[in-house]
Amino acid sequence: MNPFLEKHPDEIQAILAKYPADELGKRSAVMPLMYLAQLDNGYVTKDAILQIAEICEMSTTEVASIIGFYTLYYDQPTGKYHVQVCTDLPCALRGADQFLEKLCENLGIKVGETTPDGKVKVEAVMCLAGCDKAPMFQVQGPQGIEYHENQTVESALDVISKLREA
Ligand code: FES
Repeated sequence: MNPFLEKHPDEIQAILAKYPADELGKRSAVMPLMYLAQLDNGYVTKDAILQIAEICEMSTTEVASIIGFYTLYYDQPTGKYHVQVCTDLPCALRGADQFLEKLCENLGIKVGETTPDGKVKVEAVMCLAGCDKAPMFQVQGPQGIEYHENQTVESALDVISKLREA
């Protein structure tokens, strides 16, 4: 049996039930299935790609290409929490670039790096739909996604320090 299906039978059936039972419906389930797989290890492992491809009747290349396209997914081990700061144009106009730079400086890392304890990766992403409330970021972690808007470097450091303690 497919090990991913064996591990999460109920969750996977619930995801598949949301889509038509035809070929197109199975393909549509690929994103929530990848999200479920990512909760297991913090990233979508090569084995999970194979197993999801089998469930969705897709090629592994197709599944892997979706991971590469979306900032929501990772194909290699990374921080437990992803602090994703939007630096797209509207946020940049409200100081997002400087915010991100100062935040990383305070954490002793560069953009795209993970804190030495392996807990928090800070990265720049495109629009997160909070354009008028920059600087803003989302935290992606085992509990799902949380938004933090109208941030200062201090308030963001406070959020990150709580994540590192968790
Ligand atoms: S441009 Fe940053 S949230 Fe939209």
